[in-house]
Amino acid sequence: MSGPRTPIGPGEGGTRQTDGNRPLVELSHVEKHYGSLHVLKDINLHVDTGEVLVVVGPSGSGKSTMCRTINRLESIDSGVIRIDGEPLPQEGKELARLRAEVGMVFQSFNLFANKTILENMTLAPMKVRHMSRKDADDMAMDLLARVGVESQASKMPSQLSGGQQQRVAIARALAMQPKIMLFDEPTSALDPEMVNEVLDVMIELANEGMTMICVTHEMGFARKAADRVVFMADGRILEEGRPDDFFEHPKTKRAQDFLSKILTR
Ligand SMILES: Nc1ncnc2c1ncn2[C@@H]1O[C@H](COP(=O)(O)OP(=O)(O)OP(=O)(O)O)[C@@H](O)[C@H]1O
Ligand SMILES: [Mg+2]
Repeated sequence: MSGPRTPIGPGEGGTRQTDGNRPLVELSHVEKHYGSLHVLKDINLHVDTGEVLVVVGPSGSGKSTMCRTINRLESIDSGVIRIDGEPLPQEGKELARLRAEVGMVFQSFNLFANKTILENMTLAPMKVRHMSRKDADDMAMDLLARVGVESQASKMPSQLSGGQQQRVAIARALAMQPKIMLFDEPTSALDPEMVNEVLDVMIELANEGMTMICVTHEMGFARKAADRVVFMADGRILEEGRPDDFFEHPKTKRAQDFLSKILTR
């Protein structure tokens, strides 16, 4: 991935300076129910600027829900979520602004099917960031080059492979110059041969200092790129540690069972 680079360092594009002493993302005593189902139980978590956090845990443990509360796709019942020191607002302009600081990439590619790759890239920067078409196009082409798909710019999403679409989804999120990127199992819907091309982009982002929360069971990625691993089960964070410590010496029975299953798969 060569060529001119659009800087994506944490805090760039925002108007406020990041205070190095406080966490960029902070969840404090967060609780959430879906009806009678208690899905997040006293979640306390902080992610510092530049930190890469990997979240693992069995299906249904609340990993996606936790991610979705961080950019307020889901509301919480109680507790506080702060981004760069500011509590997440409930709605309105402030919410839109804070949400623009959090990029999210999902398992399914979520590109607009009836728009070209370039249009997918430039829509939000022009609408939300009020960029001119020329600036948005230039930035989009830069970012597409960085993830290795600049030659696809005029195609429709359905004409791209899953791995290419997911790289566009990452580039599209980066086009908003987010302070943090959330990834929810970004490679789990991909054919095996396309997994690495997406993980390589994520590793490069991590190496460049992007703050990242990644729900993924890709151990190789976790070991290469993560500063910390969080293990969730039944809506709680049960363990937290350095990747090598966690994968080699899980403390709880729950984590041991979980790891023995995914490591032998
Ligand atoms: N919109 C919803 N309405 C009702 N229940 C939901 C909703 N979304 C998730 N749940 C439930 O909340 C719990 C946590 O789900 P969540 O998707 O956060 O788990 P997960 O850890 O991401 O699982 P997976 O590994 O399968 O993606 C599950 O029991 C799930 O069935
Ligand atoms: Mg999930």
